[in-house]
Amino acid sequence: MRSRLRSASARRPCSGCWPGVSAGSAGAVMPPTVPKWNTLPTCVVTLASWKRVTVPASYGVAHIPGALSVQDAGALGLAGTAALDSVNAVDPQKDETVLVSGATGGVGALAVQIAAARGAKAIATARPGAEAAFVTDLTDAEVHLVDFTGDLDAQIRTLAPGGVDAVLHLAGDGAQLAGLLRPGGRIASTLGFGPDAVEGQDVTAHSVMAAPNARTLTALAEDAASGVLRVPVTATYPLERAPDAFASFASGALGKLAITCA
Ligand SMILES: NC(=O)c1ccc[n+]([C@@H]2O[C@H](COP(=O)([O-])OP(=O)(O)OC[C@H]3O[C@@H](n4cnc5c(N)ncnc54)[C@H](OP(=O)(O)O)[C@@H]3O)[C@@H](O)[C@H]2O)c1
Repeated sequence: MRSRLRSASARRPCSGCWPGVSAGSAGAVMPPTVPKWNTLPTCVVTLASWKRVTVPASYGVAHIPGALSVQDAGALGLAGTAALDSVNAVDPQKDETVLVSGATGGVGALAVQIAAARGAKAIATARPGAEAAFVTDLTDAEVHLVDFTGDLDAQIRTLAPGGVDAVLHLAGDGAQLAGLLRPGGRIASTLGFGPDAVEGQDVTAHSVMAAPNARTLTALAEDAASGVLRVPVTATYPLERAPDAFASFASGALGKLAITCA
């Protein structure tokens, strides 16, 4: 087991291990390994304050730019990777329609921004009211809203009569969502909806397992630091109030919740 561990030092960067990690803040993100990924915290450490930290080789480690708070970096790591990997899986082209099912969650709130930034016509699920306002505020680009508690099929038919080009399945019923695709459309799922589920249909399905490697984390961190990507943290809790954070999450909090340790 020890041989699979690597260490990063603030004073002496681990040359060849993680480019970009040097004195300053760095985040270490655990890859998803268990069914309920979103109950796992993303670990972010400040290497400047510790001489040496050790994390498993499978963790992604990246420098946190000065303009990005550790809190936002922590919220961004796994959710951002899942969002980016999902968008990349369906590879939306300019003006293509992309339905983001679960746009009010941590992954979806980032995926909407990434898809819109690529010039796609983003269609996002949200209940009317606070959820809709939250999604609309994520980006300056136009986002079309659909209420997933209503007749989703009818709303999509209005926006994309021939079906949408791509779906990001981050919540909801994968089979129903795949049925909203145009012939030849693509669906990416963080919920295990993969090729087997669309066998015989003229669509492509990708089951996405987020891979938070250094390259992806660095790209996300740079986009967040420069303001291209808004990290959707909607509430922050001190560590001693972690149970409140979990309770809020379970009752349907929007976006990401951050827990800080001073
Ligand atoms: N495969 C991977 O690598 C990977 C990585 C990260 C996350 N995940 C998984 O990906 C999913 C999304 O993650 P997340 O952190 O964004 O979760 P989240 O924060 O729970 O977001 C899910 C959002 O979807 C909404 N929702 C519920 N039912 C819906 C429906 N039928 N249609 C549209 N939206 C609906 C929820 O609203 P309410 O809260 O009001 O119900 C919530 O806002 C989770 O299941 C998570 O476990 C997978």
